[in-house]
Order: sequence, then C-alpha cells, then structure tokens
Amino acid sequence: MKAKIAVLAGDGVGREVVPEAVKVLKAVAERHGHAFDFVSADVGGQAIDKIGVPLPQETLTLAKQSDAVLLGAVGGPKWEGLDYSLRPERALLGLREALGLYANLRPAKLYMALADASTLKKEVIEGIDILVVRELIGGIYFGKPKGIEKIGGVERGVNTEVYTTDEIKRIAKVAFEAARKRRRKVTSVDKANVLESSELWRRVVTELQKGYPDVELNHMYVDNCAMQLVRNPKQFDVLLCNNMFGDILSDEAAMLTGSIGMLPSASIGAQVGLYEPIHGSAPDIAGKGVANPIATIASAAMLLSYSFQLEKEGAAIETAIVRTLDLGYRTKDIHSAGTRLVGTGEMTDAIIRNLG
Ligand code: NAD
Ligand code: IPM
Ligand code: MN
Repeated sequence: MKAKIAVLAGDGVGREVVPEAVKVLKAVAERHGHAFDFVSADVGGQAIDKIGVPLPQETLTLAKQSDAVLLGAVGGPKWEGLDYSLRPERALLGLREALGLYANLRPAKLYMALADASTLKKEVIEGIDILVVRELIGGIYFGKPKGIEKIGGVERGVNTEVYTTDEIKRIAKVAFEAARKRRRKVTSVDKANVLESSELWRRVVTELQKGYPDVELNHMYVDNCAMQLVRNPKQFDVLLCNNMFGDILSDEAAMLTGSIGMLPSASIGAQVGLYEPIHGSAPDIAGKGVANPIATIASAAMLLSYSFQLEKEGAAIETAIVRTLDLGYRTKDIHSAGTRLVGTGEMTDAIIRNLG
C-alpha cells in the first residue's frame, strides 16, 4: 500500500527515538512491498524556538492530511516558564483535539524476558496484559472555566472536570469492544464517592454494559486502583479511565512491564490516528543515545495495525521486539546482570535484524 505518515519528533528523546521507529517502518515497508511517504514537521518546544508557536498551522495541516501521525514527545525545562497557552504540551493537546482523538489505547504487557526488569516481584507481574483505555479530549484537561485569575487581590488557578453522557458513552464503547477481543473484563476507574462527574461516569458505563452481557464490568475508585495495580495487577484486563486518571495509571502500569520506555500508545477516534510512546521528552537522559526506543517502535507497530490494517506487518515488529529481548539486548532502563547493554541505535538495529 501507499501511505503518508506525518513524523513529529518534537523534543528531547523524541528526537532520538522517532528516527529509529521510522527506520523500522522503512525496513518493514521494504520487506512487505509498501510505499510509505514520511513527512517531518515541527512540534513542541522545538517549534516554539523555530517558529514561535508549539503547534504551527503547517504542522496541523500536515497531520490532518496524512494517513497517520507518529509523534515522539514534547516539552522540557527550557520552556517551563512560558505561559500555558504557549507551552510545548499545548501542541499535543491541540493535535489530539483537532484530530478528534478521544480514545487513547495504552497496552501494558510484560515481555517474559523482562520479568526481572521490573521493580516488582516476578510472581506479581508474570503474565500481565492490561489495556488502559484513556479518554483523551475531555475531562479536567479541557473543561471550562479554566485559567489563573485574580479576584479581590487573591490569585487562583482553576480547572474544571466535565464529562457529558455522550463523551462517556463513546469511550466506554471502545473499552467494551476491546474487552470482547481480550479477556472480556472491564474495570471502570472513577472517584464516584466524591465527584459528580464520576457519578455520571459510573451510571453511564453501567447502563452501556447492558449491551455487552458477555463482558464483565466492575467499578473501582482510582485510589484503590492505584494500589491494586501494584498489589495484584493480574486482576485487570481493560482499565477504562478518564483523561487524568488514565494519564497517571498508565505511567504506573508501565513500571509493571519494566520501564516507561516500553509502553506504546494509539490515539484514535476520527480519521487520522496518532501514535506515540507514553513517556515524555526525558530531559535527564536526552542527547545521550541511551533512551529506550521500544515504546516508539511498538507505537509504529500499532500504527500499521490500527491505521493501515497491516496486522501482519504490525505483528512482525512485535515478534522482532520479543526476539531481540530474548537475545538479551537491553537499554539502560531495562538492563540487568547477564544481559547486553546497548544504546538507542543498537537496540533498533537488532530489532530490524530480527524482523525476519
Ligand atoms: P518523562 O516520561 O519524560 O520521564 C520520566 C522518567 O522516565 C525520566 O527519568 C526519564 O529518563 C525516563 N524515561 C522516559 N522515557 C524513557 C525512555 N524512552 N527510555 C528510558 N528512560 C525513559 O516524564 P517527565 O520527566 O515528567 O517529563 C519531561 C517532559 O516531558 C515534560 O516537559 C513533560 O511535560 C513532557 N511530557 C511529554 C509527553 C508527551 O509528549 N507525550 C509525555 C509525558 C511528559
Ligand atoms: C501523556 C503526557 C501528556 C498528557 C502531556 C504532555 C500533555 O503526559 O501523553 O501522557 O498529560 O496527556
Ligand atoms: Mn503522561
């Protein structure tokens, strides 16, 4: 097939891991006879430095006109002092909103070779396979009123958690449909004991489940869920979360798999899907060539399966990752005694060699 992929590397380690994932996609295209056209554009802090805004119009237009978007990460200490409307992170929120990407899928699966890489005991994490379904364009990230205001000399920062019935329904539907292809269990995460937005969330999800009698549903308060994720993560199949809870719990779930450098994501909803690792620009390791590229390479695999229906090619990347880990290749974040410590590029080269 022929397809156009927008490549938005962004900041920090995004600039290191995205070119590696593109190398893998090129290798897959060559082996399977596809023609992918990669078009790069500026986003985040790097776009602020060059053009003055985090999400240039040209980048947004490119994203809209592409068949899929591959993104690295945005943000970093350099831009932290800027007004919120001008910060690199706005680019990501802007892209998600403009592309209508209401569903963010974050699979946390333990690769057996990494059973020793997690900070948790092997018997706790062995066999975990969790899908975090995170609502991505609503909730406290987008609710109004918002801002910093001064009333009677007192300054206050305001954000608002809002969800409509339709917003809850459409994300819950994604979770139930996904569960049907997995172990048929949805855990809906909320704070319904305190928040009205969660009370509605719980009511709507409960109602929707009636259309999915084959899928088991349970509700869990977010504080308990954070605890259960490290106590007994094997109890979870699909975790249905609002925007904020999904952000937090997916970073926690990432550590069950060994490292945040392992977790990919797919953001879908309307026509164009966006694929990115769940991690950020990792300023502490950026520029050193040590970042783990697997989260981004696995995101590229999701891109092939979800946006292009190239399941065989996506699976080929997955298999190559498994083989490479089985051979003992490890970046610093997942390194343990007796394995082979490699940098970002070497890890990618090994994955490409193992594409078969
Ligand atoms: P982070 O995810 O960038 O880093 C957290 C920790 O994980 C760091 O110690 C980092 O070294 C490590 N890490 C992250 N990715 C790694 C990889 N591929 N390989 C090995 N180790 C890795 O989170 P943070 O430090 O809280 O945020 C840094 C910046 O990134 C902030 O500006 C934040 O807003 C931004 N951010 C962007 C995104 C995104 O673009 N999607 C996501 C999260 C954070
Ligand atoms: C993520 C990030 C983003 C989020 C930030 C950078 C806007 O943490 O993709 O997980 O909170 O969604
Ligand atoms: Mn996050």
